[in-house]
Amino acid sequence: MRGAAVLLVSLIGCSSAPVVREPAPSTDDAVPSQADAPSDPPSAIASQAEPLPEEPNPVAVRINAKYEASDDARGWEKRFERQGREVHDKREAVVAALKISPGDAVADVGVGSGLYTLRLAEAVGPTGTVFGVDVQDYFLAHVEAKAKDAGVENITFVKAAQRSSNLNPASLDLVFICDVFHHVEYPRTYLASLYAALEPGGRMAVIDYIAEEGTSEAWVLDHVRASPAEFRAEFEAAGFVFVEAPELLEENFFHIYQKPK
Ligand SMILES: C[S@@+](CC[C@H](N)C(=O)[O-])C[C@H]1O[C@@H](n2cnc3c(N)ncnc32)[C@H](O)[C@@H]1O
Repeated sequence: MRGAAVLLVSLIGCSSAPVVREPAPSTDDAVPSQADAPSDPPSAIASQAEPLPEEPNPVAVRINAKYEASDDARGWEKRFERQGREVHDKREAVVAALKISPGDAVADVGVGSGLYTLRLAEAVGPTGTVFGVDVQDYFLAHVEAKAKDAGVENITFVKAAQRSSNLNPASLDLVFICDVFHHVEYPRTYLASLYAALEPGGRMAVIDYIAEEGTSEAWVLDHVRASPAEFRAEFEAAGFVFVEAPELLEENFFHIYQKPK
């Protein structure tokens, strides 16, 4: 087990006020609704490291506005943990393909409703740790409550910012990031924080929708800003080395990368 601690663990109580939501879209997280500038401050990691030049936000429409507008975690859970969502239906096979060892330190980046968080906690076992990461307090609070109800004690929750995961450097064996990377508003600086958080030789497993002109559905092309090849180029530019693509999913690409030893 890696003795990992986090730079910032922040769980601010989620609002209990009723939330009025638009009718559910046909997809898990589509339908971005407004365009304005993000306001996350630079992270602790970003300010410690050699500052990267400011990068433009490539997410043209504010894809996370819907998560800011609705803190109804149970409503999101119904969308994320429903039959027909590929990463839900194949969740056990996905976790098996990650080849996690007992005692590992694993980050679930973008926990959402916790579809994977508790399964990852089971895979690392009592001597391992899962870091549940999200930018939204209400998702963190929701998954923390689920873990408490299930008696799971090896999850530490980390409040991320759009420019940093806020994970400690060289603290992880595996970063798992499922249906999240296309939501990251400053991918280059954010990837630098994920790369820094891995031990040399540590791995990053990325699952995201396949957006390819000519084959993907219109909502995917509207919603996901890059193709698998373009995302791969971003990961390789950040220093990651492509290792394998488990053949498991059809609507999503599933890539595993490594930080060189
Ligand atoms: C579509 S949900 C996916 C949740 C979960 N991984 C799953 O597959 O069910 C996207 C999640 O990413 C989170 N998110 C967006 N930007 C993020 C960032 N920069 N760092 C961490 N989480 C982020 C959102 O708050 C939301 O919980």
